[in-house]
Amino acid sequence: MPDYSAYTAIKVEIDAENIAWITFNRPEKRNAMSPALHFEMEDALMKLETDDACKVMVVTGAGDSFSAGMDLKEYFRATDNNPDLRFRSLTAVKRWSDLLTWTRKPTIAMINGWCFGGAFAPLAACDICVAAEEATFGLSEVNWGILPGGNIAKVFSDLCNSRDALFYAMTGRTFDGKKAVQMGVANMAVPLADLREETRKICRELMAKGPAVLAYTKQAVKAVRDLPMDMAWEYLGAKSQALRGADPEKTREKGMAEFLDKKTYRPGLQPVKRS
Ligand code: COA
Repeated sequence: MPDYSAYTAIKVEIDAENIAWITFNRPEKRNAMSPALHFEMEDALMKLETDDACKVMVVTGAGDSFSAGMDLKEYFRATDNNPDLRFRSLTAVKRWSDLLTWTRKPTIAMINGWCFGGAFAPLAACDICVAAEEATFGLSEVNWGILPGGNIAKVFSDLCNSRDALFYAMTGRTFDGKKAVQMGVANMAVPLADLREETRKICRELMAKGPAVLAYTKQAVKAVRDLPMDMAWEYLGAKSQALRGADPEKTREKGMAEFLDKKTYRPGLQPVKRS
């Protein structure tokens, strides 16, 4: 069983329901992302991928912040004259953002408070985003004489429309959870007091689906985004075919038999009941 106990900048806990809670854990620094945090995230996500105890991942922050973005002191200023650490940190961010984006397990960003700049990397990498209504979001890079680097300008403008992307990147203005939903940055906003329970509900819903079906579905939806239409047809055809061989639970056969033969299940009327 993988050991997650040595981390100091993050905390990884897998609960009795098989939900892995990945918590940015520097509340005194508003969970700003230091080089250590990036190295730990990469290590944790590598381990969680094959840890059977983890069925779904939730990324969140300790205290009143999701994350105040890249650590201006440890990630930026301290690496100005340390190209080795700068390169290693940037590479780790890229790697763990990719791991989080493409993991076969479902992922939820649970935005519990401050969410600035670099924090949009995990937010966008996760499949689903649930925000507290009270959370505060912003691209504040413009205030620091930098631009939303790494992949931030890209993921932010992929999430919302280009008017909002430009407006918030250029003014550095903040917005709340409800506005994040209107912009397409979050799926839903709920009162902070209900955030964890609402997130749990989504986790349970996801865990009731076939894991292979879910993995192939999320990867397909993400992959076709940047494909031309004819390539999307080809890719989805091949991916669908591959899924039939990759689903040990035979969800397709089971579901169809329940609907067509046994007539015990109508997906439009009730959630999937799986034995
Ligand atoms: N990088 C490094 N340190 C940060 C940080 C960041 N992005 N965000 C917060 N911190 C540190 C502060 O320097 C402070 O450290 P100190 O106690 O050693 O002085 C500590 O976290 C608490 O921050 P503070 O500003 O006192 O907390 P607050 O609750 O009053 O405000 C924020 C919280 C998030 C609104 C405010 O810290 C902020 O605006 N941070 C910058 C966010 C940002 O621009 N991020 C984009 C980076 S590109």
